[in-house]
Amino acid sequence: MKELKIPLIKNGTVIDHINSGNAIKVLRILGIPQNLSATVSVAINVKSHMGNKDIVKVENRELDTSEVDKIALIAPKATINIIRNYEVAEKHKVELPNEIKGIVKCSNPTCISNNNEPIISRFKVVNKDPTKIICYYCDRETEDISERII
Ligand code: CTP
Ligand code: ZN
Repeated sequence: MKELKIPLIKNGTVIDHINSGNAIKVLRILGIPQNLSATVSVAINVKSHMGNKDIVKVENRELDTSEVDKIALIAPKATINIIRNYEVAEKHKVELPNEIKGIVKCSNPTCISNNNEPIISRFKVVNKDPTKIICYYCDRETEDISERII
């Protein structure tokens, strides 16, 4: 039986090994579809040797560090493949730094980082997969991270 696969791309970025069901969150991080300058293909719940996964392919675009850190928060096993002229020119596993600044809003409404102070949010990454982050200022764990990405 023939399977319909998403086509290979000529140039751009393939975000592979996204936790099944999280492709939509990756799209939100990339500002898609609001910021629709690229052609994007998405595969959700694809069979792979390590369980099921999602894949996002963005043509003619490379990601910046802050986008990659945000993806690492919600897809800790993801790989970022840079495609140039149909070849995988670079492959990186996402890796969260031990501390993240300015990319997630603390879930504690009374946290100093939420009180109009000129303070950038800051979290200690205490576990990378599954992601667990603790606010540097108020020590509260922030859950539902994907809802709180700035
Ligand atoms: N890919 C693509 N367009 C290309 C080349 C690769 O869309 N021109 C995609 C592949 O479909 C795959 C990902 O980029 O989803 C990584 O490609 P490759 O390294 O060839 O695949 P694997 O060896 O299976 O990757 P891994 O070992 O990371 O699972
Ligand atoms: Zn806090």
